[in-house]
Amino acid sequence: MKFFIDTANLDQIREAQELGVLDGVTTNPSLMAKEGITGRNNILKHYVDICNIVDGDVSAEVIATTFDEMVKEGEELAELHDQIVVKIPMIKDGVKALKYFSDKGIKTNCTLVFSAGQALLAAKAGATYVSPFIGRLDDISTDGLNLIAEIRHIYDNYAFETQILAASIRHTMHVIDCAKVGADVMTSGLSSITGLLKHPLTDSGLEKFLADYNKGN
Ligand code: G3P
Repeated sequence: MKFFIDTANLDQIREAQELGVLDGVTTNPSLMAKEGITGRNNILKHYVDICNIVDGDVSAEVIATTFDEMVKEGEELAELHDQIVVKIPMIKDGVKALKYFSDKGIKTNCTLVFSAGQALLAAKAGATYVSPFIGRLDDISTDGLNLIAEIRHIYDNYAFETQILAASIRHTMHVIDCAKVGADVMTSGLSSITGLLKHPLTDSGLEKFLADYNKGN
């Protein structure tokens, strides 16, 4: 399973990259605003800064909601850097835009996916990635992980190449559960990645090994 980091914070992106396990980055307008990145030019520059830190795909979201505007904005984003993936919302014009970019060989990430039907449409339109938001489903008492499993089942039935990018990951168990059900990618904040490191038996075991070594030296 690929690990993407879901942030626009350059320090956190660098930290994950330096850990050696990072495969890409996802952003959205809310994450950009959280870092105080506003204004079109600043946002475009920030995408390039992110691409210069990581080796993998970097999702950049369109703000447009009509087909013509999504195409214009998506083409501008795709020209910024060859690592840019155009992130498009799961709406009717978005499906048309996914097909347009797919035909042109431009990578896409279909976002705000909350049902298996939406994921099926995204795959039919040739999306590179589909992003089901599992945390937000859990928030409304719906099993987010089950959606990942359903999409996995459907995509495997027909050998769809669209990659399942589990998004809205809130904690380490989401990461582990997504790996169990076969998500291709998960995107989370840094704490859900570094949280995987932690185990008290690792800490106490290391402490004992070092203490025993030091007895003989
Ligand atoms: O990748 C989608 C993500 O940014 C949404 O996460 O925690 O706002 O539901 P959250």
